[in-house]
Amino acid sequence: MNIRDQSLLDRAFHEAERASWLWTAPNPRVGALALSQGHVIGHGHHAFLGGPHAEEAALRDAGAWNEDSNSPRPGVVDEMILTLEPCSATGPSKRRPKSCLHLLQAAGVKRVVLGATDPDPRHQGGAIAAMRAHGIEVIHAAEEPRFATQNPAFLMAQDQPQRPFVLCKWAASMDGRTATEHGVSQWITGEEARAEGHQLRAISDGILVGSRTLHLDQPRLNARVSPEDPWRNQPVRVFLAASHLAQANQGPLSIAGPRWWIESNPQASLPTGATDDDHLLSLPPDECGRPDLDQALTKLKDEGIGRLLIEGGSRVQAAFLRAGLVDAIVRYEAPSLFGGGLGSWQGQGPQHPREAWQLFAEERRDCGKDLRRAFLLRAADSPVVKE
Ligand SMILES: NC(=O)c1ccc[n+]([C@@H]2O[C@H](COP(=O)([O-])OP(=O)(O)OC[C@H]3O[C@@H](n4cnc5c(N)ncnc54)[C@H](OP(=O)(O)O)[C@@H]3O)[C@@H](O)[C@H]2O)c1
Repeated sequence: MNIRDQSLLDRAFHEAERASWLWTAPNPRVGALALSQGHVIGHGHHAFLGGPHAEEAALRDAGAWNEDSNSPRPGVVDEMILTLEPCSATGPSKRRPKSCLHLLQAAGVKRVVLGATDPDPRHQGGAIAAMRAHGIEVIHAAEEPRFATQNPAFLMAQDQPQRPFVLCKWAASMDGRTATEHGVSQWITGEEARAEGHQLRAISDGILVGSRTLHLDQPRLNARVSPEDPWRNQPVRVFLAASHLAQANQGPLSIAGPRWWIESNPQASLPTGATDDDHLLSLPPDECGRPDLDQALTKLKDEGIGRLLIEGGSRVQAAFLRAGLVDAIVRYEAPSLFGGGLGSWQGQGPQHPREAWQLFAEERRDCGKDLRRAFLLRAADSPVVKE
């Protein structure tokens, strides 16, 4: 690869860094440049799960997008620089009708410089071969290690394709309390933090809570985003061991939309007032008599949930953590002190600090008076995920 291509690729990798794993996982952070006759006329990155891929974002930025037909305008862009091989698959689970391979062909791109091939063995090299067969010149820079360093969350998701990417999200006081001793948690943080929480819901495929959270908080669990927000998805609601406590057509549960009730009790049934939106998932009990969490996640993935947000409570999220099923945490910290009350995680912790989960890839933001900190998780002895 020549110096000119390398320097453009460096710019594309910088463009990818404008994205955050918090908004793209389980998808990767990807950057793209669109060129015409050797001049960069557009930049783009994949900003959030379900949003335009980097290729589309760069074509739009370059003015090479026809809004009427929602497709590329041919003849504007002749070259693209991409940190990752374009996607070549479509389908319901992909949230998009056309692959990026198709977009590049439709835009009339003649030359592509690529950082890394698709790590998914099912697709690796597929788009490269298809582009070459279409007459597009493809330069592959073999920057796989750089792409990997930029994308730990994506690689974690690739390592466990049988289950969703799982994030636990909660709000806490400075002393880590998520509710008062009486179980009251609404509200610990301010409006700005809660607004971002709704955006996180809107890019998630599913949202899960435990029975006590459903009972005590009566959460609506829908994404209440503003009309300007680009993210518009309503997550599937998932309840753990809660069907006996619920009245499916009342209060917050009267909001329509699909719901899963995960139970291990063989006598469990759908809650009273259940509709066609309600589905019962009966699982064998684990050694404590609770639904097997591994199997629950496998089933949710089969149902199309690629990103799952767990919103409490402290026992349920600790159970997922102990089972090694949490990939990321998102904590909104309020400048308040409870001095007592419910802790963030209730369960058995490690015997020694060296056994603690290690947090990395921090994403931090001030949300009004509150502070959001998000991290990826790695087991203390994990050989798999390197920063
Ligand atoms: N600050 C925040 O962001 C936030 C968010 C959510 C909730 N909260 C607060 O958290 C409190 C509720 O949390 P919590 O810890 O008491 O309850 P929880 O985690 O919501 O629910 C615990 C219950 O879930 C059921 N369950 C099913 N499978 C389980 C498993 N594998 N491990 C553990 N439990 C399992 C159990 O019911 P059975 O015992 O019947 O089996 C258990 O009692 C409320 O006060 C709520 O206000 C705060």
